[in-house]
Amino acid sequence: MNPPTHATASLPSEFSRIRQDDNARWFHPWEYMPEAGHANRTIASHADGIYLYDENGQQLIDGPGGMWCVQIGYNRREMADAIAEQAMRMPYMNPFSLTSAPPARLAARLAQMAPGDLRHVFLTTGGSTAVDTALRFVHFYNNVKGRPEKKHIISRAHAYHGSTYLCALVTGKDREKNWFDVAAPFAHLLPHVNPARRPTGMSVAAFCEAKVQDLQTKIVELGADKVGAFIAEPIQASGGVIVPPEGYLRRCWEICRKYDVLFIADEVVTGFGRLGHWFASKDVFGVEPDMITCAKGLSSGYVPLGALLISSRLFDEVSGEHARGASFGTGFTYSGHPVCCAAALKNIEIIEREGLLEHVREVAPHFQHRLQALREIPMVFDARGMGLVGCVECSVAHLHGVGLDEEQILALDTDLGTRIDRHCHELGLLVRPLVNQCVFSPPLIITCEQIDRMFDILREAILRTMHDVERELGINVV
Ligand SMILES: Cc1ncc(COP(=O)(O)O)c(C=O)c1O
Repeated sequence: MNPPTHATASLPSEFSRIRQDDNARWFHPWEYMPEAGHANRTIASHADGIYLYDENGQQLIDGPGGMWCVQIGYNRREMADAIAEQAMRMPYMNPFSLTSAPPARLAARLAQMAPGDLRHVFLTTGGSTAVDTALRFVHFYNNVKGRPEKKHIISRAHAYHGSTYLCALVTGKDREKNWFDVAAPFAHLLPHVNPARRPTGMSVAAFCEAKVQDLQTKIVELGADKVGAFIAEPIQASGGVIVPPEGYLRRCWEICRKYDVLFIADEVVTGFGRLGHWFASKDVFGVEPDMITCAKGLSSGYVPLGALLISSRLFDEVSGEHARGASFGTGFTYSGHPVCCAAALKNIEIIEREGLLEHVREVAPHFQHRLQALREIPMVFDARGMGLVGCVECSVAHLHGVGLDEEQILALDTDLGTRIDRHCHELGLLVRPLVNQCVFSPPLIITCEQIDRMFDILREAILRTMHDVERELGINVV
Protein backbone atom coordinates (compact mmCIF):
# COMPACT_ATOMS: atom_id res chain seq x y z
CA MET A 1 0.00 0.00 0.00
CA ASN A 2 1.17 3.57 -0.62
CA PRO A 3 1.49 6.04 2.24
CA PRO A 4 -1.82 7.92 2.56
CA THR A 5 -1.48 11.27 0.86
CA HIS A 6 -4.72 12.90 1.94
CA ALA A 7 -4.57 12.83 5.72
CA THR A 8 -4.23 16.60 6.01
CA ALA A 9 -6.66 17.51 3.26
CA SER A 10 -9.35 18.99 5.52
CA LEU A 11 -9.33 21.19 8.59
CA PRO A 12 -12.04 21.01 11.28
CA SER A 13 -13.77 24.11 9.88
CA GLU A 14 -13.83 22.46 6.47
CA PHE A 15 -15.42 19.35 7.97
CA SER A 16 -18.18 21.40 9.55
CA ARG A 17 -18.90 22.98 6.14
CA ILE A 18 -18.96 19.53 4.54
CA ARG A 19 -21.45 18.37 7.16
CA GLN A 20 -23.60 21.45 6.61
CA ASP A 21 -23.65 21.00 2.83
CA ASP A 22 -24.31 17.32 3.23
CA ASN A 23 -27.20 17.75 5.65
CA ALA A 24 -28.75 20.53 3.63
CA ARG A 25 -28.18 19.42 0.07
CA TRP A 26 -27.21 15.82 -0.53
CA PHE A 27 -30.31 13.64 -0.83
CA HIS A 28 -28.70 10.27 -0.09
CA PRO A 29 -29.67 6.81 -1.29
CA TRP A 30 -32.03 5.13 1.18
CA GLU A 31 -32.54 8.45 2.97
CA TYR A 32 -34.65 7.97 6.09
CA MET A 33 -36.86 10.99 5.46
CA PRO A 34 -37.82 11.84 9.06
CA GLU A 35 -34.11 12.51 9.66
CA ALA A 36 -33.39 14.17 6.32
CA GLY A 37 -31.42 17.36 6.83
CA HIS A 38 -29.95 16.35 10.16
CA ALA A 39 -28.58 12.86 9.65
CA ASN A 40 -25.06 14.05 10.62
CA ARG A 41 -23.31 11.26 8.80
CA THR A 42 -19.72 10.33 9.58
CA ILE A 43 -17.43 12.08 7.14
CA ALA A 44 -15.05 9.65 5.46
CA SER A 45 -11.83 11.55 5.00
CA HIS A 46 -9.41 9.16 3.33
CA ALA A 47 -8.63 5.46 3.10
CA ASP A 48 -5.73 3.05 2.93
CA GLY A 49 -5.60 -0.75 2.64
CA ILE A 50 -8.53 -2.14 4.65
CA TYR A 51 -8.92 1.09 6.64
CA LEU A 52 -11.07 4.18 6.31
CA TYR A 53 -10.37 7.32 8.34
CA ASP A 54 -13.11 9.56 9.65
CA GLU A 55 -13.07 13.31 10.20
CA ASN A 56 -11.43 12.88 13.60
CA GLY A 57 -8.64 10.86 12.08
CA GLN A 58 -9.99 7.68 13.66
CA GLN A 59 -8.90 4.54 11.88
CA LEU A 60 -11.80 2.21 11.05
CA ILE A 61 -11.55 -1.28 9.60
CA ASP A 62 -13.86 -1.20 6.60
CA GLY A 63 -15.94 -4.26 7.48
CA PRO A 64 -18.35 -4.00 4.51
CA GLY A 65 -15.51 -3.15 2.07
CA GLY A 66 -17.37 -0.03 0.98
CA MET A 67 -20.55 -1.73 -0.18
CA TRP A 68 -19.21 -5.24 -0.87
CA CYS A 69 -16.93 -3.81 -3.52
CA VAL A 70 -13.42 -2.69 -2.50
CA GLN A 71 -11.77 -6.05 -3.23
CA ILE A 72 -8.16 -4.89 -3.62
CA GLY A 73 -8.29 -2.32 -0.80
CA TYR A 74 -7.75 1.43 -0.87
CA ASN A 75 -4.93 3.71 -1.91
CA ARG A 76 -3.60 1.71 -4.84
CA ARG A 77 -1.29 3.94 -6.82
CA GLU A 78 -1.38 1.72 -9.92
CA MET A 79 -5.19 1.97 -10.04
CA ALA A 80 -4.97 5.75 -9.87
CA ASP A 81 -2.29 5.71 -12.59
CA ALA A 82 -4.35 3.47 -14.89
CA ILE A 83 -7.36 5.76 -14.44
CA ALA A 84 -5.32 8.94 -15.00
CA GLU A 85 -3.52 7.52 -18.01
CA GLN A 86 -6.76 6.57 -19.75
CA ALA A 87 -8.37 9.89 -18.82
CA MET A 88 -5.49 11.69 -20.54
CA ARG A 89 -5.35 9.38 -23.56
CA MET A 90 -9.11 9.45 -24.18
CA PRO A 91 -11.65 9.83 -21.37
CA TYR A 92 -14.70 9.05 -23.47
CA MET A 93 -15.76 7.34 -26.66
CA ASN A 94 -19.22 6.92 -28.18
CA PRO A 95 -19.99 3.25 -27.48
CA PHE A 96 -22.78 3.01 -30.06
CA SER A 97 -20.57 3.64 -33.07
CA LEU A 98 -16.96 3.29 -31.92
CA THR A 99 -14.78 0.91 -29.98
CA SER A 100 -11.44 1.25 -28.22
CA ALA A 101 -8.90 -0.92 -26.44
CA PRO A 102 -10.17 -0.89 -22.81
CA PRO A 103 -13.79 -2.08 -23.38
CA ALA A 104 -12.84 -4.53 -26.14
CA ARG A 105 -10.06 -6.02 -24.00
CA LEU A 106 -12.23 -6.14 -20.92
CA ALA A 107 -15.05 -7.92 -22.77
CA ALA A 108 -12.58 -10.48 -24.07
CA ARG A 109 -11.08 -10.95 -20.60
CA LEU A 110 -14.49 -11.41 -18.95
CA ALA A 111 -15.57 -13.89 -21.62
CA GLN A 112 -12.40 -15.85 -20.89
CA MET A 113 -12.99 -15.86 -17.12
CA ALA A 114 -16.69 -16.70 -17.23
CA PRO A 115 -18.05 -20.23 -16.85
CA GLY A 116 -19.70 -22.26 -19.62
CA ASP A 117 -20.41 -20.47 -22.86
CA LEU A 118 -20.91 -16.95 -21.45
CA ARG A 119 -18.97 -15.34 -24.26
CA HIS A 120 -20.87 -12.10 -24.91
CA VAL A 121 -20.44 -9.10 -22.67
CA PHE A 122 -22.73 -6.08 -22.37
CA LEU A 123 -20.96 -3.37 -20.36
CA THR A 124 -23.04 -1.18 -18.05
CA THR A 125 -22.63 1.51 -15.40
CA GLY A 126 -23.22 -0.65 -12.30
CA GLY A 127 -25.16 -3.60 -10.91
CA SER A 128 -28.69 -2.25 -11.40
CA THR A 129 -28.10 -1.44 -15.04
CA ALA A 130 -26.61 -4.91 -15.56
CA VAL A 131 -29.66 -6.61 -14.01
CA ASP A 132 -32.03 -4.28 -15.83
CA THR A 133 -30.36 -5.19 -19.11
CA ALA A 134 -30.54 -8.91 -18.29
CA LEU A 135 -34.29 -8.67 -17.71
CA ARG A 136 -34.77 -6.64 -20.87
CA PHE A 137 -32.72 -9.24 -22.76
CA VAL A 138 -35.13 -11.96 -21.56
CA HIS A 139 -38.03 -10.05 -23.09
CA PHE A 140 -36.10 -9.15 -26.24
CA TYR A 141 -34.95 -12.76 -26.69
CA ASN A 142 -38.47 -14.15 -26.47
CA ASN A 143 -39.87 -11.47 -28.75
CA VAL A 144 -37.28 -12.25 -31.40
CA LYS A 145 -37.96 -15.95 -30.99
CA GLY A 146 -41.66 -15.33 -31.56
CA ARG A 147 -42.69 -16.23 -28.00
CA PRO A 148 -44.27 -12.97 -26.80
CA GLU A 149 -45.99 -14.73 -23.90
CA LYS A 150 -42.82 -16.08 -22.31
CA LYS A 151 -42.09 -13.03 -20.18
CA HIS A 152 -42.69 -13.80 -16.51
CA ILE A 153 -39.70 -13.48 -14.20
CA ILE A 154 -39.43 -15.43 -10.97
CA SER A 155 -37.38 -14.09 -8.08
CA ARG A 156 -37.37 -14.66 -4.30
CA ALA A 157 -38.23 -12.98 -1.04
CA HIS A 158 -35.28 -11.01 0.42
CA ALA A 159 -33.62 -10.73 -3.00
CA TYR A 160 -31.97 -7.44 -3.85
CA HIS A 161 -31.34 -6.86 -7.55
CA GLY A 162 -30.93 -3.11 -7.78
CA SER A 163 -32.77 0.16 -7.92
CA THR A 164 -34.06 0.78 -11.42
CA TYR A 165 -37.81 0.31 -11.71
CA LEU A 166 -37.37 -3.07 -13.39
CA CYS A 167 -34.84 -4.27 -10.80
CA ALA A 168 -37.15 -3.13 -8.00
CA LEU A 169 -39.89 -5.34 -9.44
CA VAL A 170 -37.82 -8.46 -8.84
CA THR A 171 -36.42 -7.25 -5.53
CA GLY A 172 -37.99 -9.03 -2.59
CA LYS A 173 -37.24 -6.61 0.25
CA ASP A 174 -40.12 -4.63 1.72
CA ARG A 175 -38.02 -1.58 2.58
CA GLU A 176 -37.20 -1.08 -1.10
CA LYS A 177 -40.88 -1.17 -2.08
CA ASN A 178 -43.01 0.07 0.77
CA TRP A 179 -43.25 3.69 -0.28
CA PHE A 180 -43.17 3.24 -4.04
CA ASP A 181 -45.72 2.06 -6.57
CA VAL A 182 -44.58 -1.14 -8.11
CA ALA A 183 -46.76 -2.46 -10.90
CA ALA A 184 -45.39 -5.92 -11.52
CA PRO A 185 -47.66 -8.02 -13.69
CA PHE A 186 -44.79 -10.26 -14.76
CA ALA A 187 -42.68 -10.42 -11.57
CA HIS A 188 -43.21 -13.17 -8.99
CA LEU A 189 -41.50 -13.73 -5.66
CA LEU A 190 -41.01 -17.17 -4.15
CA PRO A 191 -40.96 -17.54 -0.35
CA HIS A 192 -37.65 -17.10 1.50
CA VAL A 193 -34.84 -19.67 1.34
CA ASN A 194 -33.26 -19.01 4.73
CA PRO A 195 -32.48 -22.35 6.40
CA ALA A 196 -32.23 -20.60 9.81
CA ARG A 197 -35.92 -19.76 9.54
CA ARG A 198 -37.16 -23.15 8.35
CA PRO A 199 -40.19 -24.57 10.15
CA THR A 200 -39.42 -26.12 13.55
CA GLY A 201 -38.59 -29.78 13.24
CA MET A 202 -37.86 -29.67 9.51
CA SER A 203 -34.44 -30.93 8.38
CA VAL A 204 -32.29 -28.73 6.13
CA ALA A 205 -32.56 -31.38 3.39
CA ALA A 206 -36.36 -31.35 3.57
CA PHE A 207 -36.31 -27.54 3.58
CA CYS A 208 -34.13 -27.58 0.45
CA GLU A 209 -36.57 -29.93 -1.25
CA ALA A 210 -39.48 -27.65 -0.33
CA LYS A 211 -37.67 -24.58 -1.72
CA VAL A 212 -36.89 -26.32 -5.00
CA GLN A 213 -40.53 -27.35 -5.19
CA ASP A 214 -41.54 -23.69 -4.71
CA LEU A 215 -39.82 -22.88 -7.99
CA GLN A 216 -41.22 -25.86 -9.87
CA THR A 217 -44.74 -25.21 -8.58
CA LYS A 218 -44.59 -21.55 -9.63
CA ILE A 219 -43.37 -22.43 -13.13
CA VAL A 220 -46.15 -25.00 -13.55
CA GLU A 221 -48.76 -22.62 -12.09
CA LEU A 222 -47.81 -19.81 -14.50
CA GLY A 223 -47.19 -22.23 -17.38
CA ALA A 224 -43.66 -22.92 -18.61
CA ASP A 225 -44.52 -21.28 -21.93
CA LYS A 226 -45.06 -18.04 -20.01
CA VAL A 227 -41.99 -18.02 -17.76
CA GLY A 228 -38.95 -16.28 -19.22
CA ALA A 229 -36.42 -16.44 -16.41
CA PHE A 230 -35.51 -17.18 -12.83
CA ILE A 231 -33.14 -14.66 -11.25
CA ALA A 232 -31.13 -15.47 -8.14
CA GLU A 233 -28.17 -14.18 -6.17
CA PRO A 234 -26.11 -17.29 -5.32
CA ILE A 235 -26.00 -15.83 -1.79
CA GLN A 236 -28.64 -13.22 -1.01
CA ALA A 237 -26.41 -10.39 0.12
CA SER A 238 -28.39 -7.31 1.19
CA GLY A 239 -31.23 -9.61 2.20
CA GLY A 240 -28.99 -10.63 5.12
CA VAL A 241 -26.33 -12.93 3.63
CA ILE A 242 -28.72 -15.82 3.18
CA VAL A 243 -26.80 -18.89 2.11
CA PRO A 244 -29.25 -21.34 0.54
CA PRO A 245 -29.23 -25.00 1.57
CA GLU A 246 -26.61 -27.13 -0.14
CA GLY A 247 -27.67 -28.29 -3.58
CA TYR A 248 -30.54 -25.79 -3.82
CA LEU A 249 -29.12 -23.63 -6.61
CA ARG A 250 -28.10 -26.55 -8.77
CA ARG A 251 -31.51 -28.17 -8.40
CA CYS A 252 -33.16 -24.87 -9.36
CA TRP A 253 -30.90 -24.61 -12.40
CA GLU A 254 -31.88 -28.14 -13.44
CA ILE A 255 -35.55 -27.26 -13.12
CA CYS A 256 -35.01 -24.15 -15.24
CA ARG A 257 -33.40 -26.30 -17.93
CA LYS A 258 -36.24 -28.80 -17.77
CA TYR A 259 -38.84 -26.09 -18.38
CA ASP A 260 -36.77 -23.96 -20.79
CA VAL A 261 -36.58 -21.08 -18.32
CA LEU A 262 -33.46 -18.91 -18.40
CA PHE A 263 -31.31 -18.87 -15.25
CA ILE A 264 -29.82 -15.48 -14.39
CA ALA A 265 -27.17 -15.51 -11.66
CA ASP A 266 -26.84 -12.09 -10.07
CA GLU A 267 -23.19 -12.16 -9.04
CA VAL A 268 -22.90 -8.47 -8.27
CA VAL A 269 -21.70 -9.42 -4.78
CA THR A 270 -20.49 -13.02 -5.15
CA GLY A 271 -18.28 -12.32 -8.19
CA PHE A 272 -14.68 -11.17 -8.30
CA GLY A 273 -13.24 -13.16 -5.46
CA ARG A 274 -15.75 -12.71 -2.66
CA LEU A 275 -16.14 -16.52 -2.47
CA GLY A 276 -12.59 -17.24 -3.67
CA HIS A 277 -13.37 -17.48 -7.41
CA TRP A 278 -13.94 -15.05 -10.26
CA PHE A 279 -17.53 -16.25 -10.36
CA ALA A 280 -19.23 -18.44 -7.79
CA SER A 281 -21.98 -19.95 -9.98
CA LYS A 282 -20.04 -22.86 -11.37
CA ASP A 283 -17.00 -23.10 -9.11
CA VAL A 284 -18.96 -22.99 -5.85
CA PHE A 285 -22.52 -23.98 -6.73
CA GLY A 286 -22.12 -26.18 -9.84
CA VAL A 287 -24.38 -24.03 -12.00
CA GLU A 288 -23.79 -22.79 -15.55
CA PRO A 289 -26.16 -19.84 -15.82
CA ASP A 290 -27.53 -18.46 -19.08
CA MET A 291 -26.56 -14.98 -17.91
CA ILE A 292 -24.41 -13.54 -15.13
CA THR A 293 -24.60 -9.97 -13.88
CA CYS A 294 -21.60 -8.44 -12.13
CA ALA A 295 -20.36 -5.04 -10.91
CA LYS A 296 -18.80 -3.83 -7.63
CA GLY A 297 -15.62 -5.98 -7.32
CA LEU A 298 -15.21 -5.76 -11.11
CA SER A 299 -13.61 -2.35 -10.58
CA SER A 300 -13.08 -2.67 -6.79
CA GLY A 301 -15.30 0.39 -6.41
CA TYR A 302 -12.64 2.75 -7.80
CA VAL A 303 -15.02 3.72 -10.64
CA PRO A 304 -18.62 2.73 -11.47
CA LEU A 305 -18.92 -0.28 -13.78
CA GLY A 306 -21.11 -3.32 -14.36
CA ALA A 307 -21.41 -6.10 -16.90
CA LEU A 308 -23.92 -8.61 -18.18
CA LEU A 309 -22.46 -11.85 -19.53
CA ILE A 310 -24.69 -13.69 -21.98
CA SER A 311 -24.43 -17.24 -23.23
CA SER A 312 -23.38 -17.73 -26.85
CA ARG A 313 -26.30 -20.07 -27.33
CA LEU A 314 -28.79 -17.30 -26.51
CA PHE A 315 -26.87 -14.66 -28.40
CA ASP A 316 -26.68 -16.83 -31.52
CA GLU A 317 -30.40 -17.55 -31.38
CA VAL A 318 -31.27 -13.87 -31.74
CA SER A 319 -28.46 -12.59 -33.96
CA GLY A 320 -27.41 -12.96 -37.58
CA GLU A 321 -29.98 -14.65 -39.76
CA HIS A 322 -32.20 -15.31 -36.70
CA ALA A 323 -32.42 -11.64 -35.71
CA ARG A 324 -35.40 -10.87 -37.95
CA GLY A 325 -34.25 -7.27 -38.32
CA ALA A 326 -34.25 -6.65 -34.56
CA SER A 327 -31.87 -4.30 -32.84
CA PHE A 328 -31.19 -4.53 -29.11
CA GLY A 329 -32.32 -0.96 -28.49
CA THR A 330 -30.94 -0.29 -25.06
CA GLY A 331 -27.66 0.95 -23.61
CA PHE A 332 -26.05 3.86 -21.84
CA THR A 333 -23.98 6.90 -22.70
CA TYR A 334 -21.34 5.40 -20.42
CA SER A 335 -21.53 1.78 -21.66
CA GLY A 336 -17.96 0.56 -22.04
CA HIS A 337 -16.55 3.76 -20.55
CA PRO A 338 -12.83 3.63 -21.41
CA VAL A 339 -11.64 4.96 -18.04
CA CYS A 340 -13.80 2.49 -16.09
CA CYS A 341 -12.77 -0.41 -18.31
CA ALA A 342 -9.08 0.50 -17.95
CA ALA A 343 -9.58 0.48 -14.17
CA ALA A 344 -11.29 -2.93 -14.31
CA LEU A 345 -8.47 -4.40 -16.38
CA LYS A 346 -5.94 -3.13 -13.83
CA ASN A 347 -8.09 -4.43 -10.97
CA ILE A 348 -8.22 -7.90 -12.55
CA GLU A 349 -4.47 -7.79 -13.11
CA ILE A 350 -3.89 -6.96 -9.42
CA ILE A 351 -6.26 -9.70 -8.17
CA GLU A 352 -4.44 -12.17 -10.35
CA ARG A 353 -0.88 -11.01 -9.66
CA GLU A 354 -1.41 -10.95 -5.89
CA GLY A 355 -3.22 -14.30 -5.87
CA LEU A 356 -6.23 -12.80 -4.09
CA LEU A 357 -8.59 -15.62 -5.11
CA GLU A 358 -6.26 -18.15 -3.48
CA HIS A 359 -5.80 -15.80 -0.52
CA VAL A 360 -9.57 -15.69 0.05
CA ARG A 361 -9.74 -19.47 -0.05
CA GLU A 362 -6.96 -19.56 2.54
CA VAL A 363 -8.29 -17.02 5.04
CA ALA A 364 -12.04 -17.66 4.62
CA PRO A 365 -12.14 -20.68 7.00
CA HIS A 366 -10.65 -18.49 9.74
CA PHE A 367 -13.13 -15.69 8.98
CA GLN A 368 -16.05 -18.13 9.10
CA HIS A 369 -14.72 -19.75 12.29
CA ARG A 370 -14.56 -16.38 14.06
CA LEU A 371 -18.03 -15.53 12.74
CA GLN A 372 -19.55 -18.78 14.04
CA ALA A 373 -17.91 -18.26 17.45
CA LEU A 374 -20.21 -15.23 17.95
CA ARG A 375 -23.06 -17.67 18.47
CA GLU A 376 -21.83 -18.09 22.07
CA ILE A 377 -23.22 -14.63 22.83
CA PRO A 378 -26.81 -15.03 24.11
CA MET A 379 -28.10 -12.14 22.00
CA VAL A 380 -26.81 -13.72 18.76
CA PHE A 381 -29.63 -15.52 17.00
CA ASP A 382 -27.73 -16.61 13.89
CA ALA A 383 -24.31 -16.25 12.27
CA ARG A 384 -23.96 -17.20 8.63
CA GLY A 385 -21.72 -16.65 5.67
CA MET A 386 -19.37 -18.10 3.10
CA GLY A 387 -15.99 -17.02 1.74
CA LEU A 388 -15.33 -13.46 2.88
CA VAL A 389 -18.93 -12.50 3.46
CA GLY A 390 -20.82 -12.87 6.71
CA CYS A 391 -23.77 -11.73 8.75
CA VAL A 392 -24.54 -11.81 12.43
CA GLU A 393 -28.20 -11.61 13.41
CA CYS A 394 -29.25 -10.63 16.92
CA SER A 395 -32.43 -10.69 18.94
CA VAL A 396 -33.22 -9.69 22.50
CA ALA A 397 -35.68 -12.59 22.61
CA HIS A 398 -32.86 -14.91 23.64
CA LEU A 399 -31.64 -12.88 26.59
CA HIS A 400 -31.97 -14.64 29.90
CA GLY A 401 -34.90 -13.29 31.90
CA VAL A 402 -36.46 -11.16 29.16
CA GLY A 403 -40.18 -10.81 29.74
CA LEU A 404 -41.42 -8.88 26.72
CA ASP A 405 -44.19 -9.57 24.25
CA GLU A 406 -43.42 -10.06 20.55
CA GLU A 407 -44.13 -6.48 19.60
CA GLN A 408 -41.76 -5.10 22.25
CA ILE A 409 -39.06 -7.54 21.18
CA LEU A 410 -39.49 -6.52 17.56
CA ALA A 411 -39.23 -2.83 18.45
CA LEU A 412 -35.96 -3.42 20.31
CA ASP A 413 -34.57 -5.79 17.67
CA THR A 414 -35.15 -3.23 14.92
CA ASP A 415 -32.58 -0.98 16.52
CA LEU A 416 -29.91 -3.56 17.34
CA GLY A 417 -27.87 -3.19 14.15
CA THR A 418 -27.57 0.57 14.64
CA ARG A 419 -26.64 0.17 18.31
CA ILE A 420 -23.94 -2.41 17.50
CA ASP A 421 -22.70 -0.15 14.71
CA ARG A 422 -22.28 2.73 17.18
CA HIS A 423 -20.16 0.64 19.54
CA CYS A 424 -18.14 -0.76 16.63
CA HIS A 425 -17.38 2.75 15.41
CA GLU A 426 -16.08 3.77 18.84
CA LEU A 427 -13.87 0.69 18.84
CA GLY A 428 -12.54 1.15 15.29
CA LEU A 429 -14.75 -0.88 12.98
CA LEU A 430 -17.32 0.00 10.34
CA VAL A 431 -20.13 -2.51 9.90
CA ARG A 432 -23.21 -2.43 7.74
CA PRO A 433 -26.26 -2.53 10.00
CA LEU A 434 -29.40 -4.05 8.49
CA VAL A 435 -32.18 -3.85 11.07
CA ASN A 436 -31.11 -6.48 13.64
CA GLN A 437 -28.19 -7.74 11.55
CA CYS A 438 -24.68 -6.59 10.72
CA VAL A 439 -23.06 -7.71 7.49
CA PHE A 440 -19.40 -7.91 6.50
CA SER A 441 -17.52 -8.24 3.25
CA PRO A 442 -14.07 -6.79 3.95
CA PRO A 443 -11.47 -6.09 1.27
CA LEU A 444 -10.07 -9.40 0.00
CA ILE A 445 -6.54 -8.39 1.05
CA ILE A 446 -7.48 -8.76 4.74
CA THR A 447 -5.04 -10.89 6.75
CA CYS A 448 -5.84 -13.40 9.51
CA GLU A 449 -4.56 -10.93 12.12
CA GLN A 450 -6.84 -8.23 10.76
CA ILE A 451 -9.74 -10.69 10.73
CA ASP A 452 -9.05 -11.38 14.40
CA ARG A 453 -9.03 -7.67 15.20
CA MET A 454 -12.29 -7.20 13.30
CA PHE A 455 -14.09 -9.97 15.16
CA ASP A 456 -12.59 -8.98 18.53
CA ILE A 457 -14.14 -5.54 18.05
CA LEU A 458 -17.44 -6.92 16.81
CA ARG A 459 -17.69 -9.33 19.71
CA GLU A 460 -17.03 -6.54 22.20
CA ALA A 461 -19.58 -4.28 20.47
CA ILE A 462 -22.29 -6.96 20.57
CA LEU A 463 -21.55 -7.60 24.26
CA ARG A 464 -21.72 -3.88 25.04
CA THR A 465 -25.03 -3.60 23.16
CA MET A 466 -26.38 -6.60 25.02
CA HIS A 467 -25.39 -5.13 28.36
CA ASP A 468 -26.98 -1.79 27.39
CA VAL A 469 -30.24 -3.57 26.59
CA GLU A 470 -30.08 -5.64 29.76
CA ARG A 471 -29.55 -2.50 31.82
CA GLU A 472 -32.46 -0.75 30.10
CA LEU A 473 -34.73 -3.73 30.71
CA GLY A 474 -33.57 -4.12 34.29
CA ILE A 475 -32.25 -7.62 33.67
CA ASN A 476 -29.34 -8.73 35.86
CA VAL A 477 -26.16 -8.41 33.85
CA VAL A 478 -24.33 -11.74 33.92
C1 LIG B 1 -27.00 -8.69 -5.82
C2 LIG B 1 -27.07 -7.26 -6.26
N1 LIG B 1 -27.53 -6.96 -7.48
C3 LIG B 1 -27.60 -5.70 -7.93
C4 LIG B 1 -27.18 -4.66 -7.14
C5 LIG B 1 -27.27 -3.24 -7.66
O1 LIG B 1 -26.00 -2.77 -7.94
P1 LIG B 1 -25.73 -1.19 -8.05
O2 LIG B 1 -25.97 -0.62 -6.69
O3 LIG B 1 -24.31 -1.12 -8.52
O4 LIG B 1 -26.66 -0.64 -9.06
C6 LIG B 1 -26.69 -4.91 -5.86
C7 LIG B 1 -26.25 -3.81 -4.99
O5 LIG B 1 -26.00 -3.96 -3.82
C8 LIG B 1 -26.64 -6.25 -5.40
O6 LIG B 1 -26.20 -6.54 -4.16
